[in-house]
Amino acid sequence: MRNITLLNKDWKFVKSAETASAALAAQGEAVTLPHTWNAKDGQDGGNDYYRGTCWYTKELNVPTLSEDEEAWLEFTGAAMTADVYVNGEKLAHHEGGYSTFRVNITEYLKEENELAVSVDNSDNDRVYPQKADFTFYGGLYREVNLLIVPKAHFALGYAGGPGIKVTPEIEGNNAKVTVETWTEGPAKTVTFSVDGQCAEAEVKDGMACAVFTLENVHLWNGVEDPYLYTMKAALDSGDEISTRFGCRTIAFDPNEGFFLNGKSYPLRGVSRHQDRLGVGNALTKEMHEEDLDIIMEMGANTIRLAHYQHAQFFYDLCDERGIITWAEIPYITQHMPNGRENTLSQMKELVVQNYNHPCIVCWGLSNEISASGGVTDDLLENHRLLNDLCHSLDKTRPTTMAHVFMLEIESPLVNLPDIASYNLYFGWYLGELPQNDSFFDEYHEKYPDRCIGFSEYGADANAAYQSSAPERGDYTESYQVVYHDHIINMIEARPFMWATHVWNMFDFAADGRDEGGKNGQNQKGLVTMDRKLKKDAFYVYKAHWSKEPFVHVCGSRYVDRAEEVTEVKVYSNQPQVTLFVDGEEKETKSGKYLFTFEVPLSGEHEITAKSGDLSDSIKVRKVAEPNMAYQFGEKGGVVNWFDKEDFKPGYFSIKDTLGVLKSHPVAGAIVNKLMDGASAKRGDVAESVKDNPALQKMMAAMSLESMLKQAGDAVTEEQVKQLNAALQQIPKAE
Ligand code: GCU
Repeated sequence: MRNITLLNKDWKFVKSAETASAALAAQGEAVTLPHTWNAKDGQDGGNDYYRGTCWYTKELNVPTLSEDEEAWLEFTGAAMTADVYVNGEKLAHHEGGYSTFRVNITEYLKEENELAVSVDNSDNDRVYPQKADFTFYGGLYREVNLLIVPKAHFALGYAGGPGIKVTPEIEGNNAKVTVETWTEGPAKTVTFSVDGQCAEAEVKDGMACAVFTLENVHLWNGVEDPYLYTMKAALDSGDEISTRFGCRTIAFDPNEGFFLNGKSYPLRGVSRHQDRLGVGNALTKEMHEEDLDIIMEMGANTIRLAHYQHAQFFYDLCDERGIITWAEIPYITQHMPNGRENTLSQMKELVVQNYNHPCIVCWGLSNEISASGGVTDDLLENHRLLNDLCHSLDKTRPTTMAHVFMLEIESPLVNLPDIASYNLYFGWYLGELPQNDSFFDEYHEKYPDRCIGFSEYGADANAAYQSSAPERGDYTESYQVVYHDHIINMIEARPFMWATHVWNMFDFAADGRDEGGKNGQNQKGLVTMDRKLKKDAFYVYKAHWSKEPFVHVCGSRYVDRAEEVTEVKVYSNQPQVTLFVDGEEKETKSGKYLFTFEVPLSGEHEITAKSGDLSDSIKVRKVAEPNMAYQFGEKGGVVNWFDKEDFKPGYFSIKDTLGVLKSHPVAGAIVNKLMDGASAKRGDVAESVKDNPALQKMMAAMSLESMLKQAGDAVTEEQVKQLNAALQQIPKAE
């Protein structure tokens, strides 16, 4: 038998020590796993969270082993690199903060055992991620287990894998199921069993395989019917393992999108980071479960598990609930020539450890990797090696990539993976919403035989900020609704997209960000980082995707309203909505998803939307002046700093585009200096991509004024006036 003991209790955390013995001797702090040392400083902004080498130590109680037993340690998440010492001996080094690795400690055990693990999340040029828009938490942030196994056991030391690989192939109403196992030690025979069938196989060169036929196979059919089988394998030594698997077919069509079991199944969902307010990435199973509950309440049927390998428990949940996932490694933002080996080892671990999950349909090679540094030969070669590695490890799934919006669609990188996807932020970082539509239309027209997806799109929203005239860059909850309403309708008109993933389901920690009225957070979430507040945009998707009847009145946090007549948006998946003001029926509208009403304001009002026995209400009140608390920045976010007449014609001003300004040596120098300062408050990614030529080209059409508006409190009104005054000194015509 295989005995597994969870080792999460009674650890000591030591922030710094030179050696294992020094760590063991240090006072330290008693902690329970999962644990990260960046739970607080990784989420409070300033881009100053602790990155270094810390230690975890523990008295390791191992039962006396028989001659025929071995003891292994299993680490399921040690970020980002780890060294494992048992009784002073260094037994393992692992590079990659998101995958499982194991260590055979048998030969080093004594009566009493001291375990010391050094964990490091320092800056380096070899282990990904190093440059990205999320906090690289350090710590033993997932479970650690002690495994006692017979000397002859299923493999524990191969890429942290489960030692068993199940490949179902649908054949008519049946499934041919091939199971392969790998063993270590003097193993002789394996007995397999699945769905009441049994088969025995000899172990040859450390492998044993069998093939079964499941007649009238029960398909794994997404959220409708995620049926799972269990494959068991038992060794003559007594070691036993099992894995669940699902029988399904997946297909990707350049015009019709994604197919599951031969039927069109548009993948419409969200991305998710593995962190939460106050705990960092040291999540409990309950937290994982709650995340999936919220995602499914909204009606998503797919999750892009960005930007790294997520917890086995979460992939298991997606198997059980039928949620299709995109799995990826953190090869992100900036290609590092010294990082090639690490991308290959992280990808090998991702595929070997997760091959059996029916929920996973693709392997993501990288994310926006050309953003800072462009496309180089070394980067292309790194991707070709990753692509080949995935194809050699897994013949059943395609590879994909999430390209940065600046990457020219003609680049050889775009079509390197089997299926491609783009991250676009038109209508948020720059440009206008319809540019998302035209981008995909142009791409699909130019490359009608290529599958294309929408791997990221989003807009930051601080639920404290509201506006009756929402506009790009104002960080209001109101604009986030406008943004996502446009995008969801754009997507529904383009069934060729094989998958679309909102960035992001939840606000998440990016310690380098200090914007939109919050420090340390990327606020593109549809739900806040504590999971307590569903922003109005959550209901845009719930209306389009969820079958659970509901009505939702937007604007519950927009109480003080200065306008005489206010717009009230109601989202619902019901065909008809009636609006009541102060209990009096006002208007009934029929339609789909969004129902918009105009309500005159004269005082305090209760506004209620009803559909059948469903209802939702908000309270508003007429005020004389706009409530400045609803706008971010010193004087409120998006303000008009100048009146028309402030501008001398024939001289530069903030009304000019970045391209025009940069064409002049003096005006250009002023703008460059300003942009360096602004991007420094947007975290590492902004800092590293600001010089990207493709981005520069795109931003050239942006007016300096609109860029400044989006910088919010990064620039004061006084700075804007001084900047404009300086530019107004510079005549345009020489
Ligand atoms: C990029 C990147 C994300 C990042 C997002 C953003 O597309 O892939 O990791 O968080 O943009 O800027 O919000």
